Amino acid sequence: MSEPQVRERVHREVVSYVRRSARMRPNQRRAWEQHGHEYLLDVPQRETSTSIAPDARLDLPAAFGRSAPLVVEIGPGTGESLVALAAARPGMDVLAFEVYAPAVAQLVGALAREQVRNVRIVAANAAEGLRHLVPEASVSELWTFFPDPWPKARHHKRRLVGPGFAALAAGRLGPGGRWRLATDWDDYARQMREVLDAEPMLRPEPVTGGRWDERPVTRFEARGVAAGRAVHDLSYVREGAGRE
Ligand SMILES: C[S@@+](CC[C@H](N)C(=O)[O-])C[C@H]1O[C@@H](n2cnc3c(N)ncnc32)[C@H](O)[C@@H]1O
Repeated sequence: MSEPQVRERVHREVVSYVRRSARMRPNQRRAWEQHGHEYLLDVPQRETSTSIAPDARLDLPAAFGRSAPLVVEIGPGTGESLVALAAARPGMDVLAFEVYAPAVAQLVGALAREQVRNVRIVAANAAEGLRHLVPEASVSELWTFFPDPWPKARHHKRRLVGPGFAALAAGRLGPGGRWRLATDWDDYARQMREVLDAEPMLRPEPVTGGRWDERPVTRFEARGVAAGRAVHDLSYVREGAGRE
């Protein structure tokens, strides 16, 4: 699978991530070239390399080579939590959306090294991926760990977890499906609670001990704790029937 190219600037919509150079280090390029075909799903894009064409579709059973309960992770970064969580769930299929190509390459390398086979990656915007590629009511678990916090008030509109995205994501969960989130920003945790509490398809549930104990500590969590920030783990369960 060929490496993504940085494309010329086009009209930009508001997105939850920083558009950065896709330049990879040699070991990342090697992982992408050697193992990309095992994990990366090619999807047609619009004008930017992180976009997804509205008519794009995925054949998930073909992509995973089986039918199994589906987990979706949004923004796994280099996969510090994804690799361990997926390895501990061989009976589930994990579909990850990550926009930053060097992180994806590192994730691919880690999955190959650990021989984790139940993960597929779309290197594109999760908001578009959920909308176009993931069927309604098809997801058993959705993971959103340490999404970019966009702490400045003028950037809050870029936060992933807002009302529109919450409705989209909740609709992708099957009844009883669970959305797990974590953030080390008090203010973002508050926003998540407000938005998700207000979403009629979701019901909050307590997280035992205040932290999902299976979730490995990542660099982002460690950095937040070192800076004196508290980590908030949230969990919401999908109830009722679907809506779009
Ligand atoms: C702060 S990092 C956290 C990484 C990882 N979840 C962890 O806990 O270590 C946020 C990640 O989400 C990715 N990201 C942000 N918005 C995204 C989106 N809309 N679609 C896919 N990936 C996204 C970023 O590229 C980045 O890798």
